[in-house]
Amino acid sequence: MTLPPPPVVDVKPQLLSVAPMMDWTNVYYRQLARMISRHTWLYTEMVVDQTIIHSPFTDRFLWFPPEQRPIVCQLGGSDPTLLARAAKIVERYGYDEINLNCGCPSDRVAGAGCFGAAMMLRPQVVADCCKAMRDAVSTPITVKCRLGVDNFDSYPELVNFVRVVSEGSGTTHFIMHARKCLLKGLNPQQNRTVPPLRYEWVWALKRDFPHLQFSLNGGIITLEEVAAALAIRNVGSASTNGTNGSGASSSSEAMGEGEGEGEGEAEGQGPCSSRRSGGGDGGGGHGITGVMVGRAAYNMVWDALADADRSIFGAEDNAATSRRQVMQRYAAWADTMIGHWRVEKDGHTSPNVRTLVKPLLGMLHGEPRGKKWRAAVDAALKTAGTVSEVLEASFPVLKPETLDSPPRPLGKLPQRLQHFAVELPRTPEPQEQQQPEQQQPPGQQPEPEAAVAAA
Ligand SMILES: Cc1cc2nc3c(=O)[nH]c(=O)nc-3n(C[C@H](O)[C@H](O)[C@H](O)COP(=O)(O)O)c2cc1C
Repeated sequence: MTLPPPPVVDVKPQLLSVAPMMDWTNVYYRQLARMISRHTWLYTEMVVDQTIIHSPFTDRFLWFPPEQRPIVCQLGGSDPTLLARAAKIVERYGYDEINLNCGCPSDRVAGAGCFGAAMMLRPQVVADCCKAMRDAVSTPITVKCRLGVDNFDSYPELVNFVRVVSEGSGTTHFIMHARKCLLKGLNPQQNRTVPPLRYEWVWALKRDFPHLQFSLNGGIITLEEVAAALAIRNVGSASTNGTNGSGASSSSEAMGEGEGEGEGEAEGQGPCSSRRSGGGDGGGGHGITGVMVGRAAYNMVWDALADADRSIFGAEDNAATSRRQVMQRYAAWADTMIGHWRVEKDGHTSPNVRTLVKPLLGMLHGEPRGKKWRAAVDAALKTAGTVSEVLEASFPVLKPETLDSPPRPLGKLPQRLQHFAVELPRTPEPQEQQQPEQQQPPGQQPEPEAAVAAA
């Protein structure tokens, strides 16, 4: 096993992260993302606990170049013992956090037992899993989940889930994909689009658990939206008096205008200015901790991340100065990776040039000659032996200004997110909250699939 040298990196709070995405956020994509943004947190694809435990070659799943920190390894599993064993292996690689997947509806996950979103039906099991990992490693443990699953989809039930998991395991950071998940009837892609987004539930959780951290995920596309979400503060304090939950006393308070962080300051600079000094809400404050971006960060990687260091993390400069610079740097690195895992006798390599080129395809999203460029890339892949050769052959179809223009600075913040902070569901009365599951002795727990079907 090759372990990275102890990395020395400037780890900033998790204001912006790229979501775990199976087959997408592999080590190659992450290297490109890191070359575009130095501070954005990067999540791995989900790795199943048993895969790590039984693989003789864990590097294939867990190795990363040290500059990819800050980086989070997402684990899938539902057995505390197995997850603890997997977490110990993950810890040796130097990840900044380990995240438990409680939100993924994919068949590959659902069919393999009770993990992913189905875990939300069993909050006590999630708590046990997180606690077992916390006891086994010193790496922080976090949870990524949905707002609910199937008919387990009311705000009081979500409050109960967060309470049971946080109290039972000491987990303090929840990444909320802000829509419910339907385990039957929707495919994974539909499960990322059909159930409506309810961002207001995430701010309500922050109101009801001010000591915990919540990150918002789902449907966020631009850095302006990220900044707008981070700027929403003061959503009110917990109450059980049956208010309609409009925790923020006014929308301007919700947008932090009293603190000089609202719309007025939004143009180009500083919606996160207070975060420049202290970083995100580490619990105890009023805003969400961070925003996690998924599909946009892959499909339009340059647009989504290029100005993030400066506009979200408050850095002096962005890591990247232009698409050309990033793509050439990435190509130089990618060429050293060809055949990193395997070279067959017939010359086939893993990874091959096509695999390494794939993350680059999001660099020209929406650009006038983007389609032509992708066609040129396809043509070049038929003969090119390196990623650099693919770029050399395909760059001429692009205008120099497309390749050389600097990251677009942050524009005006959208109003779209503003109402979410004022239309909060009310804080549930204690009796509305479900009692935590009774811990059953091993062997008496219902089969995961049965639990899902029962729901
Ligand atoms: C191709 C793909 C693979 C995904 N794989 C995972 C995964 O392994 N683990 C997980 O928690 N979520 C996974 N997701 C969900 C994303 O992490 C994210 O929650 C979702 O896409 C919503 O965010 P977005 O609207 O910004 O894309 C995946 C999403 C996509 C598009």
